[in-house]
Amino acid sequence: MVKERVQETVLFVDDEENYLAYTSSIFRNRGLDILTASSPLEALKLVQRQSVAVVVSDNEMPGMRGVELLARIKELSPHTVKIMVTGRADLSTTLEAINSGEVFRFVLKPWKSADMMRAVKDGLRRYRVLQSLKREDEFILYSLAQTIELKDASTKGHCDRVATLALQLAEALRVPEEVRRQIRYGSWLHDCGKIGVPEAILNAERGLSEEEFQVIKKHPEWGREVVRKANLSGTVQEIVLYHHERFDGKGYPFGLEGEKIPLEAQIVSAADICDALTMDRPYRKGLSRDELFSTLGTMKSKNLAPLLVDTLFDILRETEPL
Ligand SMILES: [Fe+2]
Repeated sequence: MVKERVQETVLFVDDEENYLAYTSSIFRNRGLDILTASSPLEALKLVQRQSVAVVVSDNEMPGMRGVELLARIKELSPHTVKIMVTGRADLSTTLEAINSGEVFRFVLKPWKSADMMRAVKDGLRRYRVLQSLKREDEFILYSLAQTIELKDASTKGHCDRVATLALQLAEALRVPEEVRRQIRYGSWLHDCGKIGVPEAILNAERGLSEEEFQVIKKHPEWGREVVRKANLSGTVQEIVLYHHERFDGKGYPFGLEGEKIPLEAQIVSAADICDALTMDRPYRKGLSRDELFSTLGTMKSKNLAPLLVDTLFDILRETEPL
């Protein structure tokens, strides 16, 4: 049988195991993937590992309160819809969380199964709306990236390849799923500031003058303005702004050094460099596989962090020769 929809995941968090067992029994055989966690830390690990549509958390738990857990889940996975189970004594905390947008609904203890069912159903509906909005957003972002490639004829397919490689790097470096999404957007849009660079400079089949190079060097800052105005996340803004920084501090626009460059920007920068080296340009042919390995080797601790070069090597060795 063909499923209409990928099974959505609902995560229940409670330190009382019998509550967890009871809650999950209500939702059995309803086409959902049910997860349970008996501590906030276990819940955070699950959210990091897979995408969760709805999380239902108790508030009173040892170690971390539900409100705090849900705030941390918001950071890791903004699209997860959050429901809090709360006692009367905690109602004011819960209402505050709802009013500040941290929590979508609450279920008051002791609850009836119909109340819990309704809250989760509403949560899933909310999640689906958010997902469809996200798909539209992604389509718009992707289209913008394609228009930039039209402007710079030699870079056709570059953004897609950078995104693929950056996501492979992010996965190897165990970057959480939500950050990986930001890395994908950052990869698509890293050069969107090139929209402000005259085509005569972008497509010049000769060496550039110092003034022309100064104009090119503006594209990370111009790009950052574009993604900031498009309300994209701080991570995407950093990727665009810092994708030409170098590990040894000799990059632009700020000459940031080493770990001061956010990891997400280092990842996209590594993927960008790697793809640019193998691309044919009007003024030179792309590097062969052997040349690529030796050139990336010379970039260790200069253009790129040693960890990134090593991870790139691991990924390249796993793929077919170019
Ligand atoms: Fe760039």
